[in-house]
Amino acid sequence: MTALTDTESSYKAQDLIAEDIDAYLDQHQHKSLLRFITCGSVDDGKSTLIGRLLYDSKMIFEDQLAALEADSKKVGTQGQNIDFALLVDGLAAEREQGITIDVAYRFFSTDKRKFIVADTPGHEQYTRNMVTGASTADLAVILIDARKGVLTQTRRHSYLAHLIGIRNLVLAVNKMDLIGYDQARYDAIVADYRTFADSIGIKAFTPMPISGFIGDNITTKSGNTPWYMGPPLMEHLETVELDVIADQAKPFRMPVQWVNRPNLDFRGFSGLVASGTVRKGDAVRVVPSGKTSTISRIVTMPGKAGGGDLDEAVAGQSVTLCFEDEIDCSRGNVISVADNPPEAADQFETTIVWMADEPLLPGRAYWIKLGTQTASATVQSPKYQVNVNTMEHLAAKTLELNAIGVANISIDKPLVFESYGVDQATPNKTLGGFILIDKLTNGTVAAGMLHFSLRRAQNVHWQPTDVTREKRAELKNQKAAVLWFTGLSGAGKSTIANLVEQKLVRMNRHAVMLDGDNVRHGLNKDLGFTDNDRVENIRRVGEVARLMTDAGLIVLTAFISPFRAERQMVREMMAAGEFFEVHIDTPLAEAERRDVKGLYKKARAGQLKNFTGIDSAYEAPTDPEIRIDTTSMSAEDAAEAIIKVLIP
Ligand code: ADX
Repeated sequence: MTALTDTESSYKAQDLIAEDIDAYLDQHQHKSLLRFITCGSVDDGKSTLIGRLLYDSKMIFEDQLAALEADSKKVGTQGQNIDFALLVDGLAAEREQGITIDVAYRFFSTDKRKFIVADTPGHEQYTRNMVTGASTADLAVILIDARKGVLTQTRRHSYLAHLIGIRNLVLAVNKMDLIGYDQARYDAIVADYRTFADSIGIKAFTPMPISGFIGDNITTKSGNTPWYMGPPLMEHLETVELDVIADQAKPFRMPVQWVNRPNLDFRGFSGLVASGTVRKGDAVRVVPSGKTSTISRIVTMPGKAGGGDLDEAVAGQSVTLCFEDEIDCSRGNVISVADNPPEAADQFETTIVWMADEPLLPGRAYWIKLGTQTASATVQSPKYQVNVNTMEHLAAKTLELNAIGVANISIDKPLVFESYGVDQATPNKTLGGFILIDKLTNGTVAAGMLHFSLRRAQNVHWQPTDVTREKRAELKNQKAAVLWFTGLSGAGKSTIANLVEQKLVRMNRHAVMLDGDNVRHGLNKDLGFTDNDRVENIRRVGEVARLMTDAGLIVLTAFISPFRAERQMVREMMAAGEFFEVHIDTPLAEAERRDVKGLYKKARAGQLKNFTGIDSAYEAPTDPEIRIDTTSMSAEDAAEAIIKVLIP
């Protein structure tokens, strides 16, 4: 075994940091950066391997090393040798508090390159961690314990890495020392993996026999595996082609992060070049508007007079572009090569990795972020879910934490996109990858990849009509409006809405009421009371109410509508000032005491599942236009009060 005693000579990088920090940083700046992940199951030796890479690259700080040597002797699993796993696991302890996405990033560097390695836990429930770590990685090291061969976890991690678009896969067959460096055993594992890789579309991978513990084929070629012809792991990491190089060969695209306008003489568009190369004088097109211009300047340090101009910029660089002409261009737009621009669309088939504890609610509106674009998106019921252990397709109505599925999504405006391209040489992560964000909590709930836009969206357009919605309302001598009643079952929504409708009719207004129980006999008779079905119920009623406001009507809706997100969605569908949220605020105890339909009794007896207030949530409005306390006001007075707000 190699005893690691050459500590004195190991601190070149650290000496330089101590003595001449500028020289050190300068040296660093000009090195390329490889981001990679390690994956494997719990005992495959990940910690040892990462510890070994950190140690051999001399990036462990002296105090950590002293502690490590002391701990290794104390814990004593490796005799007098250093137990590298302690280094990594020691760091792990610090991050165990309060961090839900448990990915540890570590930095190290060699003379040739800088590295950031994301270490992700191996358990099945950590799909989201792996996806988080993998989303920016150029390479994945898939670790296999040579004694165990290809396991379920190996397949799952390989599938995820491939799905996320990592094209450089290293199959590190570890613990070779424990199988006596047996070439036949190694070959069999590699052949076994190749069969699996072929089956899921992985076209190439780089196998290598290693021992993280002994140091075989890590920084130098090992004498223990004379039959292995490839490079040691570190050399491979130092020389493998970065995704950014492949991205530079693609057509030019830059999503605009912000419009840079420090004074009237300067107007530039800042962002990170996602792909290709842009030069001064190039013809470019702004998408989705399609307007064209020519690049007049490429600036790297905006604000610094005259300085910082470049002749060209490539994928991976952050720059500010100026145009010859004054054309519209704003945040979220994509500046592209003029003759080969990306498309825009508003419906897509996608793969979605669900990362939130709350399951996906098909039909609910989430924020979608794609490149620098933000919009509102709804996900339809999944077409299927993938069993990540067997790659089988399973039927699914929703996606739960760590589930991966394929589903169509609809966006409220066209987004500039490119297919993620899982099958191409390097995927389009910037314009093909997206995240979904919960509108109320602002938490990231999913990561996804666009497959393609749906043709039906391309063939369905908005048909302009000559009679406007304003005209239709004018004919009725009124302004269209929606009075959206919300509250518990039995709160009094229908009773009060009914009175309001009568009063409006007496005032010669054209009003119409949509009631939960009634709509569920017709349009929504296919829906029950699961969260999914309630979301769809409200989405459809919202669409109908919107059509009715187009007709110039005053619409009254009486639905429990228990979720804030859907009430917010409906609010956003209506014109400004048209939507009035009316909270019929009856406490649960009071609604249950009245129990007009006898449903609370049934629910308490367990004969009615998912009953609002009992075993299904009601999220009260935080800021309704109108709040009615039915314990202190009669239905008649409530109706009067509502009319006063609607028609002052
Ligand atoms: S919502 O939650 O989707 O908005 P909606 O207003 O359409 O509900 O329907 C509610 C009515 O359905 C209630 O007033 C009640 O009469 C009836 N109902 C039957 N089962 C349930 C249930 N499990 N939860 C709530 N209401 C139910």
